[in-house]
Amino acid sequence: MSVRTRTWLLRGLIVVVIAGVAFVAWNLRGPRAIDPAEPDFTGSADTTPGSLATSVDPVKRGLYLAQQGDCVACHTAPGGKPFAGGLALDTGFGIVYASNITPDKDTGIGGWTDQEYLHAVRDGVGRHGAPLYPAMPYNDYALVSDQDLLAIKAYLATVPAVNNKVPAPHMPFPFDIRQMMWGWNLLFFRNHTYVADSGQSAEWNRGAYLVQGLGHCTACHTPKNFIGGDKGGQPLQGFQLQGWYAPELSNNPYQGLGQWSVEELVGYLKTGGNVHSVASGPMAEAVYNSTQHFNDADLKAMAVYLKSLPGSDHKRPDALQADDQAMVLGKQIYAANCAACHISTGQGVDGMVTSFKGAAGIQAPDASSLIRTVLLGSRGAATQANPTAAAMPNFSWKLSDAQTAAVLTYIRNSWGNAAAPVTIDQVANARTNLKAREVLGDR
Ligand code: HEC
Ligand code: HEC
Ligand code: HEC
Repeated sequence: MSVRTRTWLLRGLIVVVIAGVAFVAWNLRGPRAIDPAEPDFTGSADTTPGSLATSVDPVKRGLYLAQQGDCVACHTAPGGKPFAGGLALDTGFGIVYASNITPDKDTGIGGWTDQEYLHAVRDGVGRHGAPLYPAMPYNDYALVSDQDLLAIKAYLATVPAVNNKVPAPHMPFPFDIRQMMWGWNLLFFRNHTYVADSGQSAEWNRGAYLVQGLGHCTACHTPKNFIGGDKGGQPLQGFQLQGWYAPELSNNPYQGLGQWSVEELVGYLKTGGNVHSVASGPMAEAVYNSTQHFNDADLKAMAVYLKSLPGSDHKRPDALQADDQAMVLGKQIYAANCAACHISTGQGVDGMVTSFKGAAGIQAPDASSLIRTVLLGSRGAATQANPTAAAMPNFSWKLSDAQTAAVLTYIRNSWGNAAAPVTIDQVANARTNLKAREVLGDR
């Protein structure tokens, strides 16, 4: 037997043992019972008459909560019917298809009891007892009260039923064995509702409940370890997902939201942009489907909570000198191609064109989003409060890898910014990956 085979067998054995222990532990404890109590932090502070958030009608409240949870984003395939499932999620380990959660009896969740539904959404266990893949963010939804989750179920029962059987997951061995997720759960999943911090205000707790729970901001913004669990002790400190970088969401003044006021953060989540930044890619979708629908009280609560996080200890490096070769080239390219929109002072246009000056996203440790935006261009989210979102043109046809690297290095090290240069290799790799995934054509 080769060393390689033996290592694999050993790894397999360890995984099976962990999964076995977890399975036994789970079943000894039994599923979480439905909790009838309504904790304080579930109610939105919004007192506007007719507010969906505080409606006594569970269907109306459920619509608001489903928007907060952004269920539609994953559970709708491109061009498909809402909630009918089928969207392929690339987990980094393999593909999982989001389920049909319309009230269809055969292929949806029409015949499900409250307990079966809660067991899936907050415990991560499917109807027939097998664990779900954590591509469904049950580890976040576990924090949500049963009343809120059941209101979502009441709302989902009113959407049109669609008969649509979604494909089985494509996972390589051993991840194709669902039971392996018992092991994942044992290591990374803490199954309990949000526990309020009595030392903090009601508003802060409401914000933490939304950010960590239904809003599942952590799913994209918290760093993950090599098997996809949240890295301990680094909540919301930035993570790279599928060619995008979701920046740190703490009060760190360099790579977090330290320069943003609470009002500016609320504005970004409501309209998709503010003086600092304009949301693109996955965040534009999150704003469009989800955060634009939050009422102001809930948005403010989230902002208050995020602004209280001390964040990472990433320190500002020294900026590159203006006579650095990449900086000289970058400055020329910027003046010729970018300054018309982003302005020669790097300040952009409030709510329309991303500002580069002092921006955390621009100085992020990982430049994936920036490279991607320059190669592909993008379009910010058109929202109710900001119906005319502007677009960023693509430059893949115009700028070489060296030119792209130089202009990004320049914007990361000008107007008081300081961050590691973007290398030609990074741009070349991004281009190859985007071509492989057929996002970028050959030109
Ligand atoms: C980030 C993507 C994502 C979001 C957001 C999401 N889901 Fe899911 N959900 C999935 C995936 C993927 C599966 C299938 C997992 C699997 O096959 O193991 C799933 C499975 C489920 C299931 C189990 C269905 C079945 O047939 O087993 C239910 C119920 C469900 N989701 C409800 C919800 C609700 C309610 C929300 C909003 C509060 C929501 N989901 C938000 C990705 C998501
Ligand atoms: C599906 C993944 C995803 C989810 C869920 C998500 N984000 Fe983001 N977020 C991103 C990405 C990617 C970016 C970077 C977008 C860009 O470069 O324009 C971002 C950017 C941001 C920014 C701007 C940061 C900056 O420095 O420019 C804020 C603020 C933000 N997100 C807040 C939130 C909050 C609050 C939530 C939860 C309600 C959330 N996000 C949920 C992916 C996500
Ligand atoms: C026609 C106007 C226009 C021009 C020219 C333009 N941009 Fe943009 N840019 C935008 C807009 C609008 C946004 C915000 C909306 C979006 O991201 O889609 C943006 C966003 C960006 C972002 C932010 C992406 C993120 O992750 O937050 C970067 C980086 C960027 N531009 C770089 C450049 C560079 C480099 C050039 C020149 C090579 C350039 N832009 C030229 C309009 C423009």
